[in-house]
Amino acid sequence: MLVNAKQVLAAASREGYAVGHFNINNLETIQAIMSGATAKKSPVILAVSKSAIKYAGLDNLVALVRLAAQKADIPVILNLDHGPSVELARECIDAGFTNVMIDTSGLPYADNVAATREVVAYAHERGVSVEAEIGALAGTEDNISVAEQDARYTKVEEAVSFVADTGIDSLAIAIGTAHGVYKGEPRLDFDRLLAIHQAIPETPLVLHGSSGVPAESLREAIKRGIAKINIDTDLRQAFLRTINAKMNAEPESVDLRAILGAGREAIQHTIEAKIDIFGSAGRA
Ligand code: G3H
Ligand code: ZN
Repeated sequence: MLVNAKQVLAAASREGYAVGHFNINNLETIQAIMSGATAKKSPVILAVSKSAIKYAGLDNLVALVRLAAQKADIPVILNLDHGPSVELARECIDAGFTNVMIDTSGLPYADNVAATREVVAYAHERGVSVEAEIGALAGTEDNISVAEQDARYTKVEEAVSFVADTGIDSLAIAIGTAHGVYKGEPRLDFDRLLAIHQAIPETPLVLHGSSGVPAESLREAIKRGIAKINIDTDLRQAFLRTINAKMNAEPESVDLRAILGAGREAIQHTIEAKIDIFGSAGRA
């Protein structure tokens, strides 16, 4: 069933696990994520970025997710990932999304608050929950790049005021993760994370850029208040590596379904492994 993120993330926060947020782009990614989450009896968040909308079409993605959620026996959240504008957030809410992330974190504080408040008002009237971000992660997400030297860790005081000023339901924070492929091993600022969590214990915290972060670090982050973990690159790599290997092994094959199907299976395995790390299995 399709639900908003409020109760699902509140339960995760309370009970000390995290819900996986996985990016979708097409039928295969939706099927893989849904099969993995269903096999693990876990709640799941399907994430759609602006580029995914451009690629697959908003109406197509919503129809596919709605049908998949209807058939599944687990809570499913359909989320706009890194929504760059109030207009797109509204459009997604009107189309049936159950959570939206408004990401105007690149704007000055007052403008970030103003845009986020507008989305919160529109969303809450319609039973949709809202995530927003304070701070800046390095790396590239949805064609938006932040250089390493421009990354900015979230400050405790600004997290407190941002939540109070906006009324958001969950908060994405920057504590050392980055979008995309890591060059070295990511180092997370766990002390900062715990301090933020203790300052706003009622607000579920979100970790972006979580592909490539070691399982131990993810577990530690969950212990210190992370309730939602965003994964995209790990899924893309699983899919593309598998397809590539299969095509190299069978260069004469023209069986589109066998090739895409192998990629789909690889994503499903990745989803199940992540859910085991996040501790959300059996929580549906
Ligand atoms: O919003 C999506 C994510 O933060 C995914 O980041 O591609 O580094 O896993 P990732
Ligand atoms: Zn992200």
